[in-house]
Amino acid sequence: MFAPADKAQAEESAQSLTIEEGKKLYTVGCASCHGTDGQGTSDGPSLVGVGAAAVDFQVSTGRMPAATSQGAQVPKKKNIYSQAEIDQLAAFIASLGAGPNVPTKDQYDPEGADIAKGGELFRNNCAQCHNFTGKGGALTKGKYAPSLEGVEPKHIYEAMLTGPQNMPSFPDTTMSEQNKKDIIAYLHAVNSDETENPGGLELGGLGPVSEGLFAWIFGLGALIAVAIWVAARTAKARKS
Ligand code: HEC
Ligand code: HEC
Repeated sequence: MFAPADKAQAEESAQSLTIEEGKKLYTVGCASCHGTDGQGTSDGPSLVGVGAAAVDFQVSTGRMPAATSQGAQVPKKKNIYSQAEIDQLAAFIASLGAGPNVPTKDQYDPEGADIAKGGELFRNNCAQCHNFTGKGGALTKGKYAPSLEGVEPKHIYEAMLTGPQNMPSFPDTTMSEQNKKDIIAYLHAVNSDETENPGGLELGGLGPVSEGLFAWIFGLGALIAVAIWVAARTAKARKS
């Protein structure tokens, strides 16, 4: 048994070891663009204060390390680090300046969240870039909002927390933890494939009937929108 003081000390030295390991990985894989102390260079922004959540998101989704020659936007690719290494990199960068922490499963697990509320929040805050069901879409200057299909809940939460690239950030002060969960639950519901995942909506405790109803209402909305658009076009064409 450790005495409390010893235990705290042991934890502290484990933490500084993690940071030390992270620094080594950083020096090899990241410093050329982000600077030896994370201060940034002409090839990459400063990482002081971006927080562990940004590192976990960027490296886990394979965006970082970026390739040397980039297009308009750093693409997703296969991640080359283990989760343990990502944690070390994140600990090192978090030690440079305080920023958002990696969310815990408690925070991002959508179990029991409100899918309908999530849909409303998504339409108001995200759909203008990611499309109504998160299929993604083009932005200006060759940039794009990616499809959100199959993105892990943890990474959805981190994207909202850190606002990568052109995306605005939605910190907990402007969008509560619960609302983030609602959005994650909504994305899970619209993207789950019924044949592969028969209990798709079990998450929200609704079941297949409401899922069908949901799809039906959604489809009907789209049809009405198209009908209005066609009617407007026809009216315009008649006038001219
Ligand atoms: C070839 C240059 C390059 C390398 C190598 C590189 N990065 Fe980056 N990094 C960039 C650029 C450029 C951006 C800005 C990307 C954007 O805005 O789309 C960026 C952005 C980031 C961000 C987001 C910062 C924010 O404000 O949210 C993080 C975190 C990050 N990099 C971490 C890393 C880590 C960790 C490594 C090493 C594993 C790494 N990068 C390696 C060029 C690089
Ligand atoms: C102004 C446009 C814009 C808005 C609004 C926006 N995003 Fe994004 N989002 C982006 C862009 C651009 C990226 C790609 C960033 C990158 O690759 O570095 C992105 C990336 C993401 C990713 C990462 C997906 C992946 O492939 O790893 C997630 C998850 C995400 N957004 C969720 C959301 C959610 C949820 C909302 C609403 C709360 C939202 N976004 C609002 C533009 C937007």
